[in-house]
Amino acid sequence: MVWPNEDYLKLPGSYLFSTVARKQREFSAAHPEAKIIRLSIGDVTQPLAPVIIDALHKAVDEMASAETFKGYAPDLGYEFLRNVISEKDYKARGCDIAPDEIFVSDGAKGDCGNIQEIFAKDCKVAVCDPVYPVYVDTNVMAGRTGTYDEKTGTWSDVIYMPCTAANGFAPELPREVPDLIYLCFPNNPTGATITKDQLQVWVDYANKEGAVIIYDAAYEAYISEENVPHSIYECEGARECAIEIHSFSKNAGFTGVRLGYTVIPKDLKAGNVQLHSLWARRHGTKYNGAPYIIQKAGEAVYTSEGQAQLKEQVAYYMKNAATIREGLAAAGYTVSGGVNAPYIWLQTPNNMTSWEFFDYLLEKANVVGTPGSGFGPSGEHYFRLTAFGSYENTVEAIERIRRM
Ligand code: MLT
Repeated sequence: MVWPNEDYLKLPGSYLFSTVARKQREFSAAHPEAKIIRLSIGDVTQPLAPVIIDALHKAVDEMASAETFKGYAPDLGYEFLRNVISEKDYKARGCDIAPDEIFVSDGAKGDCGNIQEIFAKDCKVAVCDPVYPVYVDTNVMAGRTGTYDEKTGTWSDVIYMPCTAANGFAPELPREVPDLIYLCFPNNPTGATITKDQLQVWVDYANKEGAVIIYDAAYEAYISEENVPHSIYECEGARECAIEIHSFSKNAGFTGVRLGYTVIPKDLKAGNVQLHSLWARRHGTKYNGAPYIIQKAGEAVYTSEGQAQLKEQVAYYMKNAATIREGLAAAGYTVSGGVNAPYIWLQTPNNMTSWEFFDYLLEKANVVGTPGSGFGPSGEHYFRLTAFGSYENTVEAIERIRRM
């Protein structure tokens, strides 16, 4: 007799964005005339930049001839990509990260979810609240989170670090000492950031306590302010305590193409075990690498042409962010984010719950967003809008919201 993994059965409801999509589908079915604008999941809408399309075409042609055909990719990813990541994302910023400390993957979501596998089951996890649900849900699946309290929406064995208006949506050091600390800056969902000095405090804390920080830098391309770090390795001592996860989805529009990477410095240890070698073992056993074609597209991101084209794309989305932020503020909403991140975090009006506001917005403005409470209890009475729509739809959505 076969039994399911009991830990999966503990997961409440479905994945946040699946629930949002289902509710949108149900509304559409009931109101087929409604012209729905989707500013919910952080999925890009602009086509891939020309330099990336060219790289894809060339790589496809290489696959057509025996001389240039590629089969399995190397475990850690092709050197041409790891070398350029090491140069452009790290050495150029004064960070000492070698190509063989970079693991290329098919996206940050998988890495964010899988990385917990190399840690002991009784590791205590700390997350920001609100939080990108993948960090918590994957620890639930691994049986690391204890029991769920439906009333509070929290897990007994998870340390929640509230990020509220009172602390500028920046977590404070937890009272109980964690083993694993998930941080994401610029933040999903609040769009908040912290300065390099603030991040240094976390690095020092992790080193003092022997904790590991899992740093999700998926939105670093959206940083516009000077003193905001693009990588945790800009902080002294981060090589001894931090893993960093990157995505090509948000900086280069790869949500449907899939590419990311994770950095594990060789200095990073759990006890006397190098975490780099554990992740390398996992990668080798469970993964056959991102496709050659896609890694060639990733390489094109770092060419000067690529950088120029992608700067324009980021600017396009950040114009949407400003449109949302300023439009909502003018309409009397309390808003934050949208300066160093493609997410705008707004307080729901009239003390509505996040899901009440979701329904209200869908019904009155035919706009879909993401309820803040879906990201954690401190997200209640908040709502997230994404800047990843088209400019025309973004302008139209804000007009509709202002008219509500
Ligand atoms: C989000 O909307 O939070 C993100 O798009 C989800 C993701 O990147 O997986």
